[in-house]
Amino acid sequence: MVYIENIYSQEVIDSRGNPTIKVTAVLSDGTMESAIVPSGASTGKREALELRDGDRSRYLGKGVLKACENVDTTISEALIGSTPFDQGHIDAMLKSIDGTNNYSNLGANATLGVSMAIARAAANSLDIPLYRYIGGSNALVMPVPMLNIINGGSHADNTVDFQEYMIVPFGFDTFKDSLRASAEVYQHLKGILKDSKHITSIGDEGGFAPNLKNNAEPIEIILKAIEKAGYKPGEEISIALDVASSELVEKDGKYHLAGEGKKVTSYELVEYYEKLVAKYPIVSIEDGLSEDDWEGWQHLTERLGDKIQLVGDDLFVTNKDILRHGIDKNIANAILIKPNQIGTLSETMQTVRLAQRNNYRCIMSHRSGESEDAFIADFAIGINTGEIKTGSTARSERIAKYNRLLQIESEVPHTEYIGKELFKNR
Ligand code: PGA
Ligand code: ZN
Repeated sequence: MVYIENIYSQEVIDSRGNPTIKVTAVLSDGTMESAIVPSGASTGKREALELRDGDRSRYLGKGVLKACENVDTTISEALIGSTPFDQGHIDAMLKSIDGTNNYSNLGANATLGVSMAIARAAANSLDIPLYRYIGGSNALVMPVPMLNIINGGSHADNTVDFQEYMIVPFGFDTFKDSLRASAEVYQHLKGILKDSKHITSIGDEGGFAPNLKNNAEPIEIILKAIEKAGYKPGEEISIALDVASSELVEKDGKYHLAGEGKKVTSYELVEYYEKLVAKYPIVSIEDGLSEDDWEGWQHLTERLGDKIQLVGDDLFVTNKDILRHGIDKNIANAILIKPNQIGTLSETMQTVRLAQRNNYRCIMSHRSGESEDAFIADFAIGINTGEIKTGSTARSERIAKYNRLLQIESEVPHTEYIGKELFKNR
C-alpha cells in the first residue's frame, strides 16, 4: 500500500514578489509532487486566515516561515503514514489539527498547500492526470475563460475604480479558439491604447492599466478592440466586470467612485449597473456591492439576476455556510471559487456542490498574487465549474493556466466547450 512518506515546505515568492508557500509531498512509491499557494490583494473579510510572520525585518513582515514550520512539524507528523488517495480524510485531518473554523492556527496557506500537493502526488502515483484524478471520466467540460484585460482598483495605480474589465469569449466551439480570439483582442487593445497615447503598462493580472476618464470608458475601448479583431461584441465576445466594490465603501456606507468624483448609495450603484447593462453587452458583474451590503445585494439580484450573472467573491469567500445564507436570501446567482479562501480542496469541492445543486454558477479563480502553479486549470475541469477567471493573455503566471487548459483540451478527445450555452441569451 502506498502511503505518505514525507511532507515539507519552502518559502518561495509569488508574482508580486511577496513570499508564499510551496509544499512537497513524497509518497512511499517514490512519487514526489509540489504545489504553490496563491495570495489575494482585495481579500474578503471572512476569508480563511493567510498566516504571515509579521516580522518586519524579513519581507516587510510578509514572510511565511511560521506557516512552513506548521507544515514541516505539526501537519507532517499527523499525516505521514496516511494514504494519499483519500482526499476527504486528509482535509478533515487538516481541519481537526487546526481546530478553528478559519485555519487561524495553522494558516490556510499551509493547509491548502498540503491539500494540493497530496492530490497531485496521488494522481501522479496512479499515473493519471490531475483533472482525471479529481473528476474521473466526467472531467470533460472546458471552462469558459473570463480574461481580465483592463485592470483598475487595488490591482493598478490608475484612476479606474472598477478592479477588472474582462472579456468573455463565449461564442466559440473550443477553448482553443476562444483563447486565440481573446489574445487577438488583447493585442488590438494594446494598439488602440498606444494610438491614443495611453500607457500600456500592465497591472497585477496582466491587464492594461491606463488612466481613463470614467468607469465606462474601458468598456468602450474594449468593444472597439473586439471589433478591430474581427469579432462581434455580444454575439461572440461579451464583457464581464469585477467591481470589487467592498474596496470602494466608505465609513458612511456609500460607495466612492473616485474616477467619477461621486459618492453613491447601493441603490444608486445598482441603477448605474442597470444603465451599463442596457447599453453594453455585459454578461457578468462580480462583487457589484460590498460583502456587508446584503440588503443592497437582494435589490441588485431582483433588478439584474434574471438578465446577467451576478458573482459573489468577497461576498461568499468560497464558504459553504455563507453561500447557504445567500441562497436562502436569493442573493447573487454565481460564486467565485478560490481554494485559498477556504483552506482545503475538499471544502472547496463541497461549496461547489452546494452551488451546483442550487443552480448557482461556479467560476474557478486565480488570485492577484499567483505563481507558475497551474493547479486551478485541472481543478476547474475536475470539478466541472464551467468557467475560469485567470487573468489576461500576458504574464506567465496567468498563461500557465491557459496553456495547461490548451494541453488538456488537446489530450482529451471528447471535451465540451459550453460558452454558447452559458451566455448566448444573456
Ligand atoms: P484578489 O483579486 O486575488 O486580489 O482578491 C481577484 C478578485 O477579486 O477576483
Ligand atoms: Zn473579485
